[in-house]
Amino acid sequence: MRYDFDTVIDRRETYSMKWELERLSRISPHFTMGADHIDSETIPMMIADMDLQSPKPVIDAMHRVADHMMYGYSSHLADPRYFTSLCRWFKDRHGWEVQPDQIINSHGTFGVLTHVAHMYAKPGQGIIVMDPVYGHFSQDIEKWGNEAVRCHLVNNDGYYTINYDLLEQQASDPNNTLLIFCNPHNPVGRVWTPEEIRKVSEICEKHGVFIISDEVHCDILRKGVKYTPFLTACVNKANAICLVGINKSFNMAGLSCSNAVVQDQGLYAHIVKDYPAPLPSPFAVAGQIAAYEEGDEWMDQVTEYIDGNIDWAIDFFAQEMPKVKIVRPQGTYCLWMDFRAYGLTDKEVHDRIYNKANVLLQDGIVHDPIEGQCFQRMCVPCARSVLETACRRIASVFQDLK
Ligand SMILES: Cc1ncc(COP(=O)(O)O)c(C=O)c1O
Repeated sequence: MRYDFDTVIDRRETYSMKWELERLSRISPHFTMGADHIDSETIPMMIADMDLQSPKPVIDAMHRVADHMMYGYSSHLADPRYFTSLCRWFKDRHGWEVQPDQIINSHGTFGVLTHVAHMYAKPGQGIIVMDPVYGHFSQDIEKWGNEAVRCHLVNNDGYYTINYDLLEQQASDPNNTLLIFCNPHNPVGRVWTPEEIRKVSEICEKHGVFIISDEVHCDILRKGVKYTPFLTACVNKANAICLVGINKSFNMAGLSCSNAVVQDQGLYAHIVKDYPAPLPSPFAVAGQIAAYEEGDEWMDQVTEYIDGNIDWAIDFFAQEMPKVKIVRPQGTYCLWMDFRAYGLTDKEVHDRIYNKANVLLQDGIVHDPIEGQCFQRMCVPCARSVLETACRRIASVFQDLK
């Protein structure tokens, strides 16, 4: 079937976090994203959460579960298709052989990520992250009583690469025991090559640093780009795990269903030993099976639509705001926008976008407190018309500086 992603689906009154900010901001200032006020005209583009309908097979599966009329405890172990569907998906779409007994269900990505992080980094120890990177990593690391050790990526005119010398230096400190890697890398959109992954894993292997590779954005790729799962290019499968999920790929983050892939038997046994038994909802189990068994057609179409949005936005900003630098991301649906050429302060950039244009993005400092000043992250998986309105509003408040 042909999906219609152009029609705007109203998400208000459906508990959507990004579309309920007006209400949520009355409960906590945290939800204002630093804007002076939120109203019915505010366009939220800050969360990695699609405003595009999910695949029809997933919607049908949700109806089937709803029609059971009972929603008690459930277990993904009861249906082998929970595992075989994931194996099929990764083999067919990414050429990655995963076995059913290498998969661990997780309540959201952070369920298993937190469990494994605590196994490999005791309080006080350092956890390496490659800023600018998904801000939750360093925020949680600090909450856990660990130090976020920032191995800044190198910004080559908007194309980011890994600083191996700095990584080697940080990894060789015995207090730094874990790396949280991100592939594709949110927010800069790099899809790491086999060579880059191999080098990172070699350095970590040499210094006894364990790697959690967060790959939840792995299905959202620009046409022609190939994703390399960390475990297919690393030097030792016993020293790393990959995290994947239906959350970002199929717009199903509200079901809190992710998975760790662990491709070493000993490591698998070590991780599950004290892992609290997961209790995914029946919607999550049925949703994952439907998505991974039957989601190909939708995925091909949604990624094509997102590519179109990204290209439209990049062309628009090149015309209307030539000073803002955006490099086309290889993966993810995030644009990493560099406003430094305007010569404004971070606060001034923020004020123009969030208060004058009434569009909510995410401040760069969320992902990189040191070098993220005057950067913004914009998530563009929405109907083209909404994207156009948001971009035009942003351009209009920078007209005086064109
Ligand atoms: C790289 C990355 N990991 C994890 C998450 C959160 O995933 P979950 O909601 O499944 O915990 C996000 C959400 O944006 C993300 O971008």
